[in-house]
Amino acid sequence: MSFTIVEQAPARRNRSELAVPGSRPELFEKAAKSAADVIFLDLEDSVAPDEKPKARKNVIAALNDIDWGNKTISLRINGLDTHFMYRDVVDVLEQTGERLDLIMIPKAGTAADVYAVDMLVTQIETARGRKSRIGFEMIIETALGMMNVDAIAAASPRNESLHFGVADYAASTQARTTGIGGPHPDYGVLTDRQGDAPRDYHWGDMWHYAISRMVVAARANGLRPVDGPFGDFSDAEGFRAQARRAAVLGCEGKWAIHPSQIALANEVFSPSEAELTKARRILEAMAVARTEGKGAVSLDGRLIDLASIRQAEALLSKAAG
Ligand code: COA
Ligand code: MG
Repeated sequence: MSFTIVEQAPARRNRSELAVPGSRPELFEKAAKSAADVIFLDLEDSVAPDEKPKARKNVIAALNDIDWGNKTISLRINGLDTHFMYRDVVDVLEQTGERLDLIMIPKAGTAADVYAVDMLVTQIETARGRKSRIGFEMIIETALGMMNVDAIAAASPRNESLHFGVADYAASTQARTTGIGGPHPDYGVLTDRQGDAPRDYHWGDMWHYAISRMVVAARANGLRPVDGPFGDFSDAEGFRAQARRAAVLGCEGKWAIHPSQIALANEVFSPSEAELTKARRILEAMAVARTEGKGAVSLDGRLIDLASIRQAEALLSKAAG
């Protein structure tokens, strides 16, 4: 290990994160009763500009009146380039108690964006004598944000998670797609010509680099990486595939933009019984290896060593929640 110890953000379940527009208060109770681990009440892009003040009022009432149980509740504020954002922070924090857990900062572009929100939140918390500290989740969804992802991840002790906002990222990088997540038929390779043999076309994952890059920045700073939305909520298998590949790369969860996606995300981001059994067997085999003075042994014909212990423990701790 490095002499630098990575401090971990407070542990929270973050398998599914349900987006709920602040302008649709009729959805709030349904969201509270859902199986989502985290709910983010949105004041940003699902709320039309003229509706912003009303949505803010709805969210304030919801934080004061609704029983959210043991769910983690987040507030997606408007971007720092708007004139809505300061009121989102000031009004909501000044007019609610301690129920809000997190603030989600959209389109975070530089570490200074996080610093600015931190300054505002810190003043309000101190002035109001708030006991629990608000945590931050940053959406990485612009070319600028991806370029500065390391600095953004390290920008505040409030930081808890990074989220990949695929639609805005596509817009910002001018990727040629109008879908919200998912693969693209033009992103693939045609196998080489080999005589007259038929050639195969393999679809690739056009988001691979972006998600991997974000995962590295998040994990190197002790934050949770979370995959963002998949817009086609009628395609459960498509969602599952996107969620699985994010889980394999190290993400802790995925957004749900419709209630039907909550159970899918919870299922994919909970380690399966087979994975848990395998992890326990690795730990048992390594315990035996240690008594025999060995650091590397074989299990089912494959190498396992001290790194396998860390992999197995990471998996088991995820299951423990
Ligand atoms: N939270 C809680 N409940 C929701 C919900 C949400 N985000 N979205 C839909 N529901 C409820 C509906 O009210 C409906 O309830 P009912 O069975 O009691 O009538 C049920 O789930 C099925 O909803 P459905 O009719 O299929 O969806 P819709 O047409 O009302 O809305 C969307 C579809 C996509 C517009 C809506 O799900 C939504 O606004 N999602 C969040 C979008 C968002 O926040 N985007 C920003 C982040 S990308
Ligand atoms: Mg966005």
